[in-house]
Amino acid sequence: MSTTHAAKAAAFPPRLQAIGTLDAPYRPMLSVAELPVGAMRRITVGELDVLLVNTDRGIFATDDRCPHMSAPLSIGELDDCIVACPLHEGRFDLVSGDTARMPTTGGLDAEGVYHPTWSPAGLDPKVDPPGKKAEARRLTRVRRLRYYPVRISAGTIEVAIPG
Ligand code: FES
Repeated sequence: MSTTHAAKAAAFPPRLQAIGTLDAPYRPMLSVAELPVGAMRRITVGELDVLLVNTDRGIFATDDRCPHMSAPLSIGELDDCIVACPLHEGRFDLVSGDTARMPTTGGLDAEGVYHPTWSPAGLDPKVDPPGKKAEARRLTRVRRLRYYPVRISAGTIEVAIPG
C-alpha cells in the first residue's frame, strides 16, 4: 500500500450517503498528517462517532458503529479497503458499503436474506439454545455502511456532519 499519495476524499455509492448530510456544514476533524494511509480514527461530534479511514482509494468517513451490533470499527483491523469488526468477525467493504463477510452470529444481510451462524476455522460451531437471544441474532439485519461526505481544505480533513 502506498503511503505517499496526496490526501483526497474517497468516492462512495451516492445512495449510501448518510441522512441529513446533503446540506450539512463541513466541520474540521483532523489534519491530513494525523491520518496516514492505513490509519483509522474515531472522531466524536456530539452524539455521533465518526470513523475516518485513509486508504489507497482516499479518505472515507462512516459511522464508527458496526452495521451489525454497533461495535466500534475504529479498533478493528483494516486490510486495504476492508474493515474487520472486533466483535463478531464481520467484514465490511468501504468501497461498496457491502458486507464482505457476515458476523459469526449469522442473521439477515442487507437484502433481508438469512445467513446461519458460523465459527472460525479450528473452533467448534457455537449452537444457540432456542429462545429470544437466538431469535434476536437471527432477525438482526446487517445493513450497508453509510457515508459522510469528506473534503480536504488547507491540509485539514473536513466532514459534512448534520446538525
Ligand atoms: S458488532 Fe460487528 S460483527 Fe457484530
